[in-house]
Formats: sequence, C-alpha cells, structure tokens
Amino acid sequence: MRLKALILIAAVIAVALGVSACGYGEKGLAVKSNETLYNGAVSFAQHCSGCHTLSAAGTQGTGNRGERTQGPNLDQRQESVEDVIFAIQNGGFTGAIMPQNIVVGKEAEEVAKFVAKYAGEEAQNAPRPGQNDEPTAP
Ligand code: HEC
Repeated sequence: MRLKALILIAAVIAVALGVSACGYGEKGLAVKSNETLYNGAVSFAQHCSGCHTLSAAGTQGTGNRGERTQGPNLDQRQESVEDVIFAIQNGGFTGAIMPQNIVVGKEAEEVAKFVAKYAGEEAQNAPRPGQNDEPTAP
C-alpha cells in the first residue's frame, strides 16, 4: 500500500509540473497585466500553447516535433496580424491540422496582435515570400 501511495503522489507531482511547463501559468508571460496585449497573451497561453511554442507567452508547445498536431514554433516565424487572423479562421495556412476558430471576435484580434508583436523573435532574418514589406520585430 505504501508503495502505491508513493507512486500516486509522484504521478500527481509529475502532472502538476507538466501543466505548469505547458504555460498555463501566467508567470512566463512577457506582457504585464496593465499592458494592452495582456489579454491576447493570456488567451494565447490558454488556447494555442498546446501546439505552438512562443516564449513571450511562456509556452513550449512545439517541444515534441514527433506529434503531428504540433504547430510551427512561433518564436521562429514572423507573423502579421492578418496572417494570424487567417490562421485562426482557417485552421493554419493549409487548413490541415490546426482547428478553426479556437478564438473568435475580439479575443481572436487580441491574440493576433500579441502574436504579431512577439512572434519571430528567434527568426534569423528569414522572411517568407510576400512578407518582405513587414516591419521587423524590435
Ligand atoms: C491542435 C493544435 C493547434 C492549436 C491548438 C493551434 N494551432 Fe496554430 N497551427 C497548428 C498547426 C499544425 C499549424 C500548421 C499547419 C498549417 O499551417 O496548416 C498551425 C499554424 C498556425 C499559424 C501559421 C504559422 C505559419 O507561419 O505557418 C499560425 C499563425 C497559428 N497556427 C496560430 C495559432 C493561434 C493564434 C492559435 C490559438 C488561437 C493556434 N494556432 C492554435 C496547430 C495548432
């Protein structure tokens, strides 16, 4: 019995650690609660972090590239507000795996603005076709 209880406790701790590592806590947010993009950051952490890595939201979704559902690492891609809205409404750019309309309306806009500001911080000067006119992230 003792051993079983210990295993159970270990499992609970593992799950708790796993959840916080997934970014559901708001500690990892690069945006403070009094900033405009805060709502978007929180929404991203809640709705998108399971599949997308984005450091500014404290998320590590793309740690496991073996999973087919893992979306692109948004630290490595620059995104415009329009592109993020498009991805949200259409389920990524191909409509293949990412679910559509996870967030809608104002919340979608807030998420998009947040992603557009913070995505691509690790992008190494690799704009995609059609995005050369985008201002580079500060
Ligand atoms: C179930 C996993 C999943 C969730 C949840 C998810 N995505 Fe995605 N996302 C993907 C996958 C997979 C792709 C790539 C496939 C494609 O483009 O069709 C993608 C693509 C994208 C792209 C395009 C990236 C690029 O440059 O190609 C953006 C932007 C994006 N997602 C934003 C979001 C936002 C914002 C949310 C939350 C509202 C979100 N995603 C939630 C899986 C997910």
